[in-house]
Amino acid sequence: MKTKALYTGSFDPLTEGHMDIIRRAARLYDDLTVGIIANPSKKALFPIEEREEMIREVVAELGNVRVDHFSGLLADYVNEGGFDVVVRGLRTATDFGYEIQMAHMNACLFDPRVETVFLMTDPRYSFISSSVVKEVHALGGSIDGLVPKEILRRMDAALK
Ligand code: COA
Repeated sequence: MKTKALYTGSFDPLTEGHMDIIRRAARLYDDLTVGIIANPSKKALFPIEEREEMIREVVAELGNVRVDHFSGLLADYVNEGGFDVVVRGLRTATDFGYEIQMAHMNACLFDPRVETVFLMTDPRYSFISSSVVKEVHALGGSIDGLVPKEILRRMDAALK
């Protein structure tokens, strides 16, 4: 049976840290969806449709990755979409503290077959977040190598 996995987040914007998790999850599972969430608690730089378009461009090289967006409860999207695995990236021990609480809460809401699986973020990217790359870029610092080239091009355009 094919394993259907979901990697979710705000991805505003997607970074090389996210890409590393996507490439590795795409090797582990038959079918991977990058699910972009409209997170009302965060002020976004890119509208969700543009994030979807940008991510589609950068994952096009990976044959088994699709991109979608959703709002509301993660568990509803997971159960309705028939996912088997929810992939999360762990950068630091601080991430773990937050993630374990979320994973336990989600486990109460997910269909029983669904597992949350953690992949360790590549240490080259363990210090970055979408907010930090946005801040450095907006202040004129270099974020070369921290976001895919296509994303950097869109960030440059958004700054102008
Ligand atoms: N490399 C680089 N950065 C990473 C990373 C990685 N591998 N993994 C995470 N990050 C960054 C993200 O870019 C994000 O940065 P930001 O805060 O500056 O935007 C930060 O770490 C936190 O990531 P994450 O925890 O994935 O937050 P998110 O906003 O991207 O996604 C959801 C959060 C979508 C997983 C969560 O809010 C959710 O499930 N919401 C749905 C509502 C729901 O069901 N709530 C109940 C949950 S129990």
